[in-house]
Amino acid sequence: MRTPIIAGNWKMYKTPQEAVAFVQATKADLLKLAAAERVVCPPYVALPAVKAALDGTDIAVGAQDVHWEEEGAFTSQVAPGMLEGLVTYVIIGHSETRAYQGVTDEMVNKKAKAALKHGLRPIIAVGESLEINEAGDTEAFVGNQIRAAFDGIPASDLAHIVVAYEPIWAIGTGKSASGEQANAIIGSIRAILAGLYGQEHADAMRIQYGGSVKPGNMAEFMSQPHIDGALVGGASLQPDSFIDLVRIAIEAKGLS
Ligand code: PGA
Repeated sequence: MRTPIIAGNWKMYKTPQEAVAFVQATKADLLKLAAAERVVCPPYVALPAVKAALDGTDIAVGAQDVHWEEEGAFTSQVAPGMLEGLVTYVIIGHSETRAYQGVTDEMVNKKAKAALKHGLRPIIAVGESLEINEAGDTEAFVGNQIRAAFDGIPASDLAHIVVAYEPIWAIGTGKSASGEQANAIIGSIRAILAGLYGQEHADAMRIQYGGSVKPGNMAEFMSQPHIDGALVGGASLQPDSFIDLVRIAIEAKGLS
């Protein structure tokens, strides 16, 4: 059984004070929902405060990106070693970083390897544009992203990696894929991982869906066999909504 994982990607929202207020408002409820892994990914500047507010709990903290170099003249960037001890997870290859910061498949691979080297768990995000989707090329495109991201990553690291399938046309648009569509693509991602690492490893990997997930459609996604959780933007920003998402995931997987 794969433990569901619900991660809130807060993007460029919440000051450190607002982030801590969110944690204080949700902590007691989230602690009761231990059948799923709960992760919050605040902006870098809020990480220390959120980490401190969650100390001693099993609610995990994640960063939204990481550089692959150990250190250097890379203005604005954060090295993996700087996140050690501060976060458990790091989102890598989110489509907004691919679109606005020029992150390529090759960089995603380097970032994932660097994160793993520092004991950070990558949440590797992949997903296609509307154009690719409408051309019927989603499986091939996402498959290539997966093969590139995992290039040279040994099977022994797989247990520390989560994949997030996020169709770009569904992110922040209110337009989500259907549960069945998402399940089919995520099934194809699992098949590619099985080809790379064997069925047993592929069956153990957790793959999330992301893109306009909210409490109203969470059950539809989480009741699909290949979908192991969600990477959530907008609906992760409100305490009640985030708690609901975790609760619905647990119910849909029959874990409550
Ligand atoms: P959204 O964002 O839930 O606001 O669509 C998802 C994401 O970008 O991870």
